[in-house]
Amino acid sequence: MAAATGTLEGRVAFVTGAARGQGRAHAVRLAREGADVIVSDICGPVSDTVPYPGTTSEELAETVRLVEAEGRKVLAREVDVRDDAALRLLVADGIEQFGRLDILVANAGVLSWGRLWELTDDQWNAVIDTNLTGTWRTLRAVVPAMIEAGNGGSIIVVSSSAGVKATPGNSHYAASKHGLTALTNSLALEAGEYGIRVNSIHPYSVATPMTENDAMLKVFGAHPSYLHAFAPMPYLPVGQGATGKRSDFMTVDEVADVVVWLAGDASSTLSGSQIRIDRGVMKY
Ligand SMILES: NC(=O)c1ccc[n+]([C@@H]2O[C@H](COP(=O)([O-])OP(=O)(O)OC[C@H]3O[C@@H](n4cnc5c(N)ncnc54)[C@H](O)[C@@H]3O)[C@@H](O)[C@H]2O)c1
Repeated sequence: MAAATGTLEGRVAFVTGAARGQGRAHAVRLAREGADVIVSDICGPVSDTVPYPGTTSEELAETVRLVEAEGRKVLAREVDVRDDAALRLLVADGIEQFGRLDILVANAGVLSWGRLWELTDDQWNAVIDTNLTGTWRTLRAVVPAMIEAGNGGSIIVVSSSAGVKATPGNSHYAASKHGLTALTNSLALEAGEYGIRVNSIHPYSVATPMTENDAMLKVFGAHPSYLHAFAPMPYLPVGQGATGKRSDFMTVDEVADVVVWLAGDASSTLSGSQIRIDRGVMKY
C-alpha cells in the first residue's frame, strides 16, 4: 500500500458500493488522503440471481467507522444505484453538507454466471441495471453538481478486465463493463471543458466476496477451456512484498492505490484512459 500524502485535503469524494470490498477500501484511502466522503450501498441482496451474499447495514456502518477513524467527515446512506431519485437526493444532500463534490468512484456492481444462451432475463437485468444503467444514473446525478461547484473533478468508473476483453461465462457482465468503457470515453470529452477528468479502471482478479464463491468454480469445472481467459496473474516482485510470493488475487488496497492516484492531481493529464490493473496478465 502506498503511503498517504494528504493530497486530497479539502476535497469531497463520493463512493458507491462502499459497504465492503473495493468500495470500502477506496472510501477509507480517499479519507486518509484528506477527503471527506459520501458513501452509499444497497446494504442487501441485489437479486436472487447473484450467487454470493449481499451486504448489510452493519458493513456500511463499519465503513463509516473506518473513514471517521481517518479523521474525516462522512455522509452514509443506503441507496440502490437503480433508484434515480434516491441517488439525486444523496448527491444534493452531500453538496449541502460539504459544499462541493470533487471525486466520484462509481464502484457498485454485481456479477453472475452462465453461458449467453442460458442467461435468464433476471440475470441479465440485475447485472445491466446495476452495472451499466446504475453507473449511468450515478454519473448523471453527479456531473451537474461537479460542474456547478466549479472546481473541476476526477471521476473513476470501475469497469473490469471484462470491460476490455472476452470473459466466457459472464457475457452480460462483460457487456455491462464494456458499456462503462464507452460511457467513460464519451463523458471524458463532454465533461473535459469543465475541468472534469473521467477515467475507467479495469481490475483483473481482486479478493472480495464477488470472486470468492463456488458459482465461478462450477463454471470453470464444467468448461475448463474458459480458464484460458482467466489466466493467473504473474508474480510482480515490486515494493515491500518483493521477498514473499503475493496472493494470486490482488488486494483491495492495491486497487485503491490506483484510485487514489487517479483522484488526485498527480494524474492530471489523464482523461478518457482505460487503466488496466492486472500485473500485466492481459498482455498474454
Ligand atoms: N472482485 C473482482 O475481481 C473485480 C474485478 C474487476 C472489477 N470488479 C468490480 O469492482 C466493483 C466492486 O466489486 P467488489 O469486488 O468489491 O465486490 P463486492 O461484491 O464486495 O462489492 C460490490 C459492492 O457493490 C454493492 N452493490 C451492488 N449492487 C448495488 C446496487 N444496485 N446499488 C448499490 N450498491 C450495490 C454491493 O452491496 C457491494 O458492497 C464492482 O463494480 C465489480 O464489478 C471486481
